Amino acid sequence: MRTQIYRPTPVNLHRMACALRRGDLVGVPSETVYGLAADALNPDACAKIFTAKERPANDPLIIHVHQIAQAKQLAFWNQAAARLADKYWPGPLTLVLPKREIVPNIVTAGLDSVALRMPQHPVFRALLETANLPLAAPSANPFGYISPTTSDHVKTSLKNRIAYILEGGACRIGLESTIVDLRSPAHPQILRPGAITLRDIQAMLTGTSAVHSQDPGEGPALSPGLLKRHYSPNTAIELAEEISSAQVTSNQVFVFYQRIPPRFKTAKFTYVLTPDGTGLSAANRLFALLRKLDAQGLDKIHLQLAPSSEPLAEALNDRMRRAAAR
Ligand code: TXA
Ligand code: MG
Repeated sequence: MRTQIYRPTPVNLHRMACALRRGDLVGVPSETVYGLAADALNPDACAKIFTAKERPANDPLIIHVHQIAQAKQLAFWNQAAARLADKYWPGPLTLVLPKREIVPNIVTAGLDSVALRMPQHPVFRALLETANLPLAAPSANPFGYISPTTSDHVKTSLKNRIAYILEGGACRIGLESTIVDLRSPAHPQILRPGAITLRDIQAMLTGTSAVHSQDPGEGPALSPGLLKRHYSPNTAIELAEEISSAQVTSNQVFVFYQRIPPRFKTAKFTYVLTPDGTGLSAANRLFALLRKLDAQGLDKIHLQLAPSSEPLAEALNDRMRRAAAR
């Protein structure tokens, strides 16, 4: 199978929609990360996602919808979902709700809940509309590796495993969506931090019990795919709040969050994650930088965590910790 990137022209969107209706896979851009899409109501098509990614069958997929009405056909909607969707859809927010019969078990890995998102990227939206199907799509990376934020990342890591990738430019956010468990709407829980923060969610769900994030060490994972090690390059990563005591040796690089401390100015391999200091530019550069550095055969990547004053720190540091876990 030869992997090809297609520009999102009307003709190509139609071609991709036909591919999806036939049960084939399409790499799609989103505002978070690139996804690997299949017809969510076709179990055989969804099975191809697991094969292409080498993803374990116990890790459920997110279904992407074009309209709220479509979401209501797949899940039992509730007031909390209505509030959050009204504010944040289309956008980087995934809602976990009790599933309806129509959703195939392969999508939810046998769970009685389903994860739903209405993406914002215009190309993804155009594809959802043209195909007129709900689309199951995990991030378009081999299982456990760094999520893709450009079409080239998808092509490089899923080469010859898929035929079609839709071009949509670099992802605006660059981190996967925030996942909120709303199965019991009075007790919402954040399963994965993202660009929509705990505070944002809390502000929309006043009157419910305090929304909180699941502690990674706490009980059985509510989200089976949230492994301690994930988004990981092959190169070892050492995390630090301040990179200070590290030895400057030749085959290591230093990635500072915003500024290079004076004593590192002479070190050869230094990078800055967010030159303008915004969490958003840190987010949309993190995965691309890790991929680039991972291709260099380094001994170690020293990576500085985001400061806790940064609103996106929870999401950024979550991804950095998982990338560094062994
Ligand atoms: O931004 C995103 O969410 C991207 C784009 C493509 O939409 N997608 C994405 O999908 O990150 P994926 O498969 O890489 O991550 C989905 C996460 C997994 O950790 C999975 O376990 C969790 O969502 N998940 C899916 N269905 C679930 C459910 N019913 N209950 C709890 N967690 C669920
Ligand atoms: Mg993923």
